[in-house]
Amino acid sequence: MVCRVVVLVSGTGTLLQSLLEAGAEPGAEFLVVAVGSERADAFGLERAKRAGVPSFVVPMLTDRAEWDRRLTAATAEHHPDLIVSAGFMKLVGPAFLARFGGRFINSHPALLPSFPGMHGVRDALAAGVKVSGTTIFMVDEGVDTGRILAQRAVDVRPDDTEATLHERIKVVERELLVQVVTELAKESHV
Ligand code: GAR
Repeated sequence: MVCRVVVLVSGTGTLLQSLLEAGAEPGAEFLVVAVGSERADAFGLERAKRAGVPSFVVPMLTDRAEWDRRLTAATAEHHPDLIVSAGFMKLVGPAFLARFGGRFINSHPALLPSFPGMHGVRDALAAGVKVSGTTIFMVDEGVDTGRILAQRAVDVRPDDTEATLHERIKVVERELLVQVVTELAKESHV
């Protein structure tokens, strides 16, 4: 049985695109069965549509616990084996983690545990590091604190801006994410 993957996005969704393409290859270990977002205007939703993959939007609420429950229910409808946060810029809550903990992974544009949070690339540059990179990890209740599954380093160039460094990190990140999802998918049908 192929591993059913739900991908959560908030933005342009280039990581999602690499998962959509890899999952559509003949003999792929996984399939992206749905894409979710808290933003109706996330370009990732358009990518899902173009790929013929269903999507759902759960707008943020002032009642965060209720939003968490709705996100959990909307995700569960697609019966995922694995959920991937690919540029999803919201922290999920206890309901989501109770249901999907241990099969919810995230990709971060820095070498955790350094530079967690919303501005991993900017914070790494500001700290003057010569090497940064990407981390794929299992999501827990903390902010980018979960068990690390894989990391790749990316050299920081003297003339890098946040945009140029992030773009080079994302090239590596897309490849690593597909690799990790494939590995987890293989394990899920053992
Ligand atoms: C990726 O670099 C991902 O690591 C980052 O957002 C980007 C999404 O790119 N996520 C975070 O910073 C989460 N803290 P994309 O929209 O092109 O896939």
